[in-house]
Amino acid sequence: MIAAPTLVVHNIGALVTCDPTHGEPGIVSDAMLVASGSEIIYAGRGRGAGFSSPSADVVDIDAKGAAVIPGFVDAHTHIAWLGDRSAEYAARAAGATYEEIARDGGGIRRTVQSTAAGTVEEVSAAVAARARRMLEHGTTTVEVKSGYGLELGAEMRQLDAALAVAVGDDMPDVVTTYLPLHSLPEGDREEFLAEVCGPGVREAAARARFCDVFCEEGAFTVEECRRVLVAAQRAGLAAKVHAEQRTNSGGARLAAALGAVSADHLEHADADDLRALADAGVTGVLLPGAALVLGGPPPPGRRLLAAGATVAVATDCNPGTCFSESMPLMVSLAVATAGLTPAQALVAATSGGAAALRLADRGMLRAGLRCDAVILQTNQWIDVAYHLGANLAATVIRAGRVVATGGGVPSR
Ligand code: NIG
Ligand code: FE
Repeated sequence: MIAAPTLVVHNIGALVTCDPTHGEPGIVSDAMLVASGSEIIYAGRGRGAGFSSPSADVVDIDAKGAAVIPGFVDAHTHIAWLGDRSAEYAARAAGATYEEIARDGGGIRRTVQSTAAGTVEEVSAAVAARARRMLEHGTTTVEVKSGYGLELGAEMRQLDAALAVAVGDDMPDVVTTYLPLHSLPEGDREEFLAEVCGPGVREAAARARFCDVFCEEGAFTVEECRRVLVAAQRAGLAAKVHAEQRTNSGGARLAAALGAVSADHLEHADADDLRALADAGVTGVLLPGAALVLGGPPPPGRRLLAAGATVAVATDCNPGTCFSESMPLMVSLAVATAGLTPAQALVAATSGGAAALRLADRGMLRAGLRCDAVILQTNQWIDVAYHLGANLAATVIRAGRVVATGGGVPSR
């Protein structure tokens, strides 16, 4: 027996499924989307034949010919922070480099100072404000990293703060990542690493799904990152790596060798690195906002696809290198700077993000998956990429429920 519908979106001009069985990005025209509870029970052509006519308990939405896309999956963010680094942004515009600012005590360390002392409630309020803005832009799942705690208790408070937001109904789904190797410790490095590899990963395993490391000159070495990720994997956390962001430091090869879920940034990755990621089934996460703000080479979107890798696009939302909650802007930047087509960029921002978080239940509009979708203010899905900096989300649906309505002026 077919489940009773609880949500019907009809009169969809273009249903962009991001399901490869329909092509790329998998468009079905004159379509409808039907959910029962949190799950899609129908996504395809038609007007509602086969479904009971809308009753009082069914939410019935007329899309009026607009395009509908899957909710964005933002697979890389650092939104658990307090404090302000706008002065650094101005200093960089005046010529200072990210590394110089970090050496002078600014950068990630400055955010550690302002965040580590924060209570769970304070950090959670900051996460909630940013997550809500993400939802309003169409993001229905967001990954949140720790990394501004440094000391174990503060790191756990950041994860708890993100988890507290996860229970909110008017928020995106939150997936947490323990990022212990981000800022350099002030005390003994060996003691710090031993604590991360022992109680750190054990306590994080109860709060997070992934463990991430910043493998970079001036941050942590390949061997330090390997040690922590091996301990994390033993504790049940899957691995992620900030790799080849500022220099070619070996993070991508490490991600491939450990069977990490993703390698992120990759601006300085070479052809062998990208092939190794593809061969090992590691998703490459492009962060075109951070690459643009910092300068330097663009993310290797086209090269990753040519190597055969799965590609994701994410915001990297953080106070230092990219203060943006907007996945649509990242889709535009992935096209303008990383060599993706609009269709590839949209797929990377939805099903690619789901792959980067190993979430098999979302990222596409297909029966049996979660009903996370965005009704756009336009009948052209390509406007998500083409219309830079606009928020074209009219109605955001998360787990089969309407959670945000943009109600802006239609763009066409
Ligand atoms: O992904 N690369 C390291 N971490 C962040 C920046 C964090 C910060 O500057 O606060 C990034 O770019
Ligand atoms: Fe990052």
